[in-house]
Amino acid sequence: MKKWFLFSLMSILVVGLLAACGTSNNDDQTSGSGEGEGKKEVLRMGTSADYPPFEYIDTTVGEEIIGFDIDLAKAITEKLGYELQVQDIDFGSLITAMDAGNIDLILAGMTPTEERLKQVDFTDVYFTANYMIVSLKDSNITKYEDLEGKVIGAQLGSIQYDKAEEIAEEINVKKIENRDRIPQLIQELKTGRIDVAIIEDTVMKGYLEKDENLSGFLLDAGEEGSAIALPKDSELTAEFNRVLADMKENGELEELVVKWFGGEEE
Ligand code: ARG
Repeated sequence: MKKWFLFSLMSILVVGLLAACGTSNNDDQTSGSGEGEGKKEVLRMGTSADYPPFEYIDTTVGEEIIGFDIDLAKAITEKLGYELQVQDIDFGSLITAMDAGNIDLILAGMTPTEERLKQVDFTDVYFTANYMIVSLKDSNITKYEDLEGKVIGAQLGSIQYDKAEEIAEEINVKKIENRDRIPQLIQELKTGRIDVAIIEDTVMKGYLEKDENLSGFLLDAGEEGSAIALPKDSELTAEFNRVLADMKENGELEELVVKWFGGEEE
């Protein structure tokens, strides 16, 4: 009886240990002691998973964050021999999170701006998009001048928010509102708390296809690019750029663009 008990206890311990090894494997790979050979260093990527098709969670598919940026990050880090971990963080907090050392890189459809370049480095641009003004179809907001007297919403910390402020210098808008996540902006449009939202056209495309109550027009403001953000003076930036250039050259990037955006870039 006693023996039997001990035996079961041992088995439980062994199973437990195995399980623990299995799960800790992922985050332990940096330590690389013992059988460290062949273990991969982990890179922690921050993203804001509110931005289909760049990064989002499709609950009909699963709980994982998927999208263009995820595939791209996976491809690049794999080629460089890293293991990738993805964390979901509000867009407006991503740079602070990297500053604090909580993440190693950002892919979030993030545009290189002078302001951000003070805090982070960016790779070359891998995708471009335009500013879109979105509203409820019924509101008949169809051109720039219609923004007069309107409440404009944009994502906190985004260049779309900066654009709203620029517009407010030119046009007498009623107010500018910010929200942490894109779906919140869409929701506020629907409830009428904001009249228009400024969102990237490539992201709005999906929303417009799904929701015929929404409509949008492009701002005549030029294209903005997305790039990968890394800590200032990171040695990875050059390596990432090298792989990005390869992927542009050999069509891999284009393949991902077609997969997620269904069209071609450039
Ligand atoms: N491209 C814009 C910017 O850099 C918006 C990006 C928002 N990304 C997101 N995952 N919500 O400010």
